[in-house]
Amino acid sequence: MHLAALHTPSQIQLNQDGHLKHFLTIDGLSKETLTKILDTAQSFFNDQNQLITNNLLEGRTVMNLFFENSTRTRTTFEAAAKRLSANVLNIDIARSSTSKGETLRDTLWNLEAMATDIFVVRHSSSGAAHFIAKDVCPHVAIINAGDGRHAHPTQAMLDMLTIRRETKKKFEEISVAIIGDIKHSRVARSDVAALQTLGCKDIRVVAPNTLLPYGFEEYGEDVRLFNKMEDGIKDCDVIITLRIQNERIDSPALSSQAEFYKMYGLNKERLALAKPDCIVMHPGPMNRGVEIDSSIADGAQSVILHQVTNGIAVRMAVLALAMQGQLQEKGLLEAIAG
Ligand code: CP
Repeated sequence: MHLAALHTPSQIQLNQDGHLKHFLTIDGLSKETLTKILDTAQSFFNDQNQLITNNLLEGRTVMNLFFENSTRTRTTFEAAAKRLSANVLNIDIARSSTSKGETLRDTLWNLEAMATDIFVVRHSSSGAAHFIAKDVCPHVAIINAGDGRHAHPTQAMLDMLTIRRETKKKFEEISVAIIGDIKHSRVARSDVAALQTLGCKDIRVVAPNTLLPYGFEEYGEDVRLFNKMEDGIKDCDVIITLRIQNERIDSPALSSQAEFYKMYGLNKERLALAKPDCIVMHPGPMNRGVEIDSSIADGAQSVILHQVTNGIAVRMAVLALAMQGQLQEKGLLEAIAG
């Protein structure tokens, strides 16, 4: 599927009451929907800033279906589902019958027949989660855990939660620089969409032209391109650094990693150009010494590990909201998120 087809705002994500049904992409969702996710995620922290547990999804089955490797996303979805008291099944794709020629559709239908309520899907093909969402029973929710270079909506929402919690500023007031391999990054695409929807007016994309996506100019006037890193991060409130997605690059975009570090690596001298309280984020996995220096990754302004914790809260929120219809019948969700 061409990425442009996936940009079309899609009603497939919402039920007839306008509530989240599937979570496939940020595109097409309203500021109210994104804010609801953030507020619900925040409600899963107690007064001591610790994640809570509850029984919102007791009796529900969440199936993690990862056709591509993951450390953070798969594990935090599992942690989130368990904190909501759901049954969690992690499917070992390498040992599944997909290796015997079974189609994705047949695999899905068989797993669906095991009383699954929510599939969390990661796939290397852009559009895989959309494809599956069109094909499942009406009561089943699909959550996109990253599809090719298209979208990673829960990563975007955990990034937004991190920005909100750490800067304590409104999205309208902050400048955000996203640095590195924008072209192959589903995180960059989803982050830009979430920032725009939440009202951020100063989004800076910092990259060489070889790592910019086609059609970049269509992102809108609140997104500006900077080829020179020093200009792009000046007076920023938030810096998001990105890994070079070598697995999605079919022709050399750079002469070397050393060259990338020289031009775009985040180090002390460069970070000093941003605001003194600028936070540093990275979705992981990090390549230390390529896009970020270890002194910054482990430094006082880094919130990289906070992103991981916030990822559990956001994934709890998305899992709960995807079951909102059933939970509302039981009067549970409103009691939690207010
Ligand atoms: N940020 C992210 O998606 O990391 P994983 O690939 O480890 O899930």
